[in-house]
Amino acid sequence: MHQNKGEKGNNMFEIFILNSYEEVSKKASEVVLEVLKKDQVTLGLATGSSPVGMYQQLVDAYHKGQSFQHVTSVNLDEYVGINQDHPQSYYTFMFEHLFKHVDIMKENIHIPSGLGNSENSTNEYELFLQAHPQDLQVLGIGSNGHIGFNEPGTAFDSTVHQIELKKETRLDNARFFSSLDEVPTHAITMGIQDIMRAQKIVLIATGQKKAQAIYDCVHAPLSVDIPCTILQKHPHVVLIVDQEAGQLIK
Ligand code: F6R
Repeated sequence: MHQNKGEKGNNMFEIFILNSYEEVSKKASEVVLEVLKKDQVTLGLATGSSPVGMYQQLVDAYHKGQSFQHVTSVNLDEYVGINQDHPQSYYTFMFEHLFKHVDIMKENIHIPSGLGNSENSTNEYELFLQAHPQDLQVLGIGSNGHIGFNEPGTAFDSTVHQIELKKETRLDNARFFSSLDEVPTHAITMGIQDIMRAQKIVLIATGQKKAQAIYDCVHAPLSVDIPCTILQKHPHVVLIVDQEAGQLIK
């Protein structure tokens, strides 16, 4: 199902409610591949379970001839306090799911550093983002409506910053660690202003746990308590969800 929904005339969400995770991943990869037709592309990328299938589709596209040599990537976020080579770092995630499988140039890969001592720490990363606005930003969404790791309460004009992860976010992500105690308590994230700079945004969500957040994203009044509501102010958001995540907006 494909529909367009404008909320209070601010923007028009382009919404796809599809039947399976595979269909969601395929559609999201098509949105990315369309943007890759440009000569030079800055792609904002997300981690987490939502985009894994989309990355598989992009790797398949690479094997069919799609190059990534003209891509500069900027990632949304990274945990604080774990090394790049930690199995659950977002750096490791991106190499495992995409970067090591395609021909993107290593010097064009940008992931914020959670160790605070590199060129990708807060201020440097913000300056880099300002100089390289995303042609497309890929987003997942937290069950509490977070985008990037901008948790409820984050100012809409926030830039790259370090945040304390909410308990529910740590619980959601505990599935990737051997215990809740091992889930980092803090992360560094693009701010909401950095996300909104993207020319286009594609948000992927599947599963019933995301249904309320997806409803809020489209219909809830703008509020810093539900970070995704800011997307109502963006001119071009493509929402790609399965039936479960889309059940409240049908
Ligand atoms: C990941 C990120 C987060 C996730 C969100 C959903 O880089 O910024 O906002 O997109 O927590 O995670 P999953 O997809 O694992 O449900």
